[in-house]
Amino acid sequence: MDTVSDFLKEKRMAETTPKITAMENGPYQVVGDVPLVRKTPVKTGQGEPISWQTGETIETESAYYLCRCGASNRKPFCDGTHRQIGFDGTETADANDISSRQTDYPGTDIVVKNDGSLCIHAGFCANEISNVWQMTQDSSDSDVRAQIMKMVDQCPSGSLAYALEAGGNTVEIELPKEIALLPDSAMWVTGGIPVVRSDGAPCEVRNRVTLCRCGASKNKPFCDGSHEESGFTEG
Ligand code: FES
Repeated sequence: MDTVSDFLKEKRMAETTPKITAMENGPYQVVGDVPLVRKTPVKTGQGEPISWQTGETIETESAYYLCRCGASNRKPFCDGTHRQIGFDGTETADANDISSRQTDYPGTDIVVKNDGSLCIHAGFCANEISNVWQMTQDSSDSDVRAQIMKMVDQCPSGSLAYALEAGGNTVEIELPKEIALLPDSAMWVTGGIPVVRSDGAPCEVRNRVTLCRCGASKNKPFCDGSHEESGFTEG
């Protein structure tokens, strides 16, 4: 870097480019004017989730800190409680790309891909009658295939994905660059916002990622559905 102005330009860029950093045993630092919203699943009369509804937009500064220990009294924001409770935010998630963990379920003109380590139990993968794994066996029927795609597209964590052929690229729908708080559950990060672990290692940049905000995940920084057992509530 040649001049002070180059340095300042680079610093400004770093502050305005969307990014999430897990702080050591502390909150997520969010920079770059990332919108913070609430999203709730839309369910059928039988209680099956079928799509997402966007609710309130929460006012924030350009940079803000979101609680990831689950104990803040000002959720979703950090209030420093992580220090009093001795929060251990050590990341244990496999740092390899998702492709190294995915199991393929080939059908007709579709291959469903599953990485169970990222599942947050959102439930879009099944209904009263069937589930995407079973349905893949009937995917020569284009209606069934379209239904599988729709179900997989709603999976917030990207635990489920699909390609159109073996070895083909994963198909992703366009999602906004934002953070959505799911009810008494994870933070849903969409649009390929980079996430950096507290040890400085960057996570694979993906279109949809769900981060733990209850503090109980065994796959930090990602949510693994532990909020159900820990009884996490927004408070
Ligand atoms: S991470 Fe700071 S209060 Fe939860």
